[in-house]
Amino acid sequence: MINIFKQDHNKYFFAKANKYFNNDKWIHGKCVNRLEKQIEKKLKLKVNACSCNSGSDALMIALTIDRDPNRDIYITTPLSYIASSSIVKFLNLNIIYIDVNEENFLLDLNKLETFLKKCDRKILKRIKGIINVELFGFTNDLHKLKKIANKYNLTLIGDCSQSFGTLFHQQSTLNYYDYSVVSFYPTKIFSSYGDGGMIFLKKKNSFKKAMIIKNNGHEIVNKNNCKYLGFNSRLDSFQAFILLMKLKNFNNLIKKKKIFYDIFTNNMHKFKIPNFNSNLIQNNYLLSFYVKKNIVKKFINYMKFKNIECKIIYKKLLPENKILRPIIPTNMKNAKKCTESLVVIPNHNNISIKIFKNIIKIINEFKSK
Ligand SMILES: Cc1ncc(COP(=O)(O)O)c(C=O)c1O
Repeated sequence: MINIFKQDHNKYFFAKANKYFNNDKWIHGKCVNRLEKQIEKKLKLKVNACSCNSGSDALMIALTIDRDPNRDIYITTPLSYIASSSIVKFLNLNIIYIDVNEENFLLDLNKLETFLKKCDRKILKRIKGIINVELFGFTNDLHKLKKIANKYNLTLIGDCSQSFGTLFHQQSTLNYYDYSVVSFYPTKIFSSYGDGGMIFLKKKNSFKKAMIIKNNGHEIVNKNNCKYLGFNSRLDSFQAFILLMKLKNFNNLIKKKKIFYDIFTNNMHKFKIPNFNSNLIQNNYLLSFYVKKNIVKKFINYMKFKNIECKIIYKKLLPENKILRPIIPTNMKNAKKCTESLVVIPNHNNISIKIFKNIIKIINEFKSK
């Protein structure tokens, strides 16, 4: 079976790590800071990188720093992994969901603008920020998003867990947010051999605070002074070491993913593929397309019969979970459609170009009747 995700496991990295850790520490190792600095350099970041234990923790740190006792509501998409909403709720904050664009699966900025324009003043006063999820490595018009955020004095948080390496107007999308987060979870495009994450912060003060919050609220050297209420979310040195090794080859991975994307867009005749802003150069983490609701089951079974995994990743809207319900209802018809028809196919690094071409050929040979 060709699966959507393949867990990376490189013996060479383990051999290298075995030697390296004769001279570095498992926690607070030198390689952790080196990773933060190298990511800033490689992605040409104008924001400061603070490693932590997961993408979820990175969101937790962002929301903890952004917290305002008078403004408790965050706007986000209903179509995402649970963490982009559950962390908000976990901190006793509230959510308003805005539907996704009908051309793709990302937060619809026109709907967002209309919502804010017509929003009841009492609610509007309570909205603190927007969590924009860059799903499958793609993103919406970040210039427009920034304008909206500025107009309404809202914090911009980028859930870039899936979009490490994605560019908008030739620069990393991580640069566009007040806080952006990535996940190094093993299925992600840039992944560790366990949990890992990073938060990127625009303001120097917030960055310093994040470094302390993720270290139980104290500085590395002075363990007696608790400066903020924090928790332990340090990135293991081992994970940092693995990521440093993988970073060297990241450009090649992006190039391969782009080849897959070009084959995909030039040869997919059978199904509608999502449409995006022309200033986007996405990392092509996951490739998706729409299969009509009435034939989607048949199509997925057909692919399974051909030994190719194919699935709808988000089958349920976040607000369909009782505990993730919003503070006020909104229309989510486009997002609902995605949960019924947006399928994903394998395009990971271990698939050869020949095999990927064959996957597309098999898709095109599908007969719905
Ligand atoms: C969109 C999104 N947000 C948040 C997360 C949470 O990341 P992590 O699993 O590293 O906590 C993930 C990854 O699983 C994700 O895909």
